[in-house]
Amino acid sequence: SRSYRIGLIPGDGIGPEVTEQSKLVVEALSKRFGFDVLWTTYPFGAEHYLATGETVPQDALEEIGSLDALLLGAIGDPRVPPGVLERGILLQLRFHFNQYVNLRPVESYGRPGPLGPVEAVVVRENTEDLYVGIGGTGDGAVNLSMGVQRGSYDMKGQISAFTSPPKRFSLQVAWHTFEAAERICRYAFDMALDMGVDQVVLASKSNAVKDLYGLFEEACRSVAEEYESVSLKVENVDALCYRLVRSPGSYGIILCPNMFGDIVSDLLAALGGGMGMAPSGNIGEGLCMFEPVHGSAPDIAGKDRANPLGSILSSAMMLEHLGEGEAARAAREAVRIYMSQSTPEELPLEMGGHLGDEKGWGTDTGAAGGFPMNGASMTV
Ligand code: NAD
Ligand code: IPM
Ligand code: MN
Repeated sequence: SRSYRIGLIPGDGIGPEVTEQSKLVVEALSKRFGFDVLWTTYPFGAEHYLATGETVPQDALEEIGSLDALLLGAIGDPRVPPGVLERGILLQLRFHFNQYVNLRPVESYGRPGPLGPVEAVVVRENTEDLYVGIGGTGDGAVNLSMGVQRGSYDMKGQISAFTSPPKRFSLQVAWHTFEAAERICRYAFDMALDMGVDQVVLASKSNAVKDLYGLFEEACRSVAEEYESVSLKVENVDALCYRLVRSPGSYGIILCPNMFGDIVSDLLAALGGGMGMAPSGNIGEGLCMFEPVHGSAPDIAGKDRANPLGSILSSAMMLEHLGEGEAARAAREAVRIYMSQSTPEELPLEMGGHLGDEKGWGTDTGAAGGFPMNGASMTV
């Protein structure tokens, strides 16, 4: 029979809460659709880091690489300085496995979002831009402690810091390669063909940041020429955000460099109904990783207040990726039924309902896969 080895990193904050529900849903689907799942759970996250100093060790990366997929909850904890765990675990996994696509579909599942029905797929470049991790801080023009040698590239005299030395400064390199921009653009255009949409919107900003986004645009324009039935629309990211909020609706595919993709996807999560609903997949040629768009939400952690649907829908993306399309559709259908048939009170707090208020979701009863939602069950 079909059998999958899935790695599970519950992580921090609400991560373990939402992945527990997700796991129950996957188990229920595996019984109904006749496949087996072998889970391997990894402890990586704040507790493990505080106890051992370790983020994700090399041998674990190798082992994870041999699995069929990875499901992640969330990473990040107020006890650890920002960036240590996020870069050390999450970004390390994305980069190590060269997961160059961060796929973030947005849908309000049969129930209009706060500003109306919304549909879009964010295709976010996932390996470059400001995320490459080359940079540092310095004190004045003299001491630069960063990964790039000052003077090793042409500053074109644009940094005033070097004419009148500041007390402290920081510099972070954003980097695009033509190849990576072409690769993500091809992915977006192929997806447009699959979905039958005739346009890819590129969120750009070459009017202010000419070289960085100019190169990205150039690569996308050259890829667009290869496609007859799909066109490229370049839009400044600020104007795009304005348009998304002013007139939400069907946006098809929104292609984004890494940093804009991060921001635009939270904006769209809000328009789609809420942060707790938004799923994502980190896709590459090797191991792929699935996780909700949201973070560890320390403000609601440990209170049974987290919406698990983003993780459940991420599991659906994972099952689709593994070839279990029917199971994935069943999970999405269950969410659609829940979203469209619940009374307003039975909806998550972030959608104006009562689920996730001080009484919690009721997920702590562990009955998911039909998990209870105010007495009603989501049945998969
Ligand atoms: P966040 O996404 O954790 O929280 C933003 C807001 O959304 C909060 O008000 C939170 O309560 C709410 N929210 C998030 N998920 C929810 C859910 N499932 N149900 C209901 N409400 C939900 O973003 P943040 O506050 O900027 O970050 C908190 C921590 O998470 C930080 O350490 C950050 O670095 C990390 N983070 C991790 C990931 C990841 O692991 N993929 C993503 C984003 C942020
Ligand atoms: C996300 C998160 C991450 C990102 C952080 C935690 C590094 O915000 O997955 O959207 O910026 O990509
Ligand atoms: Mn984000």
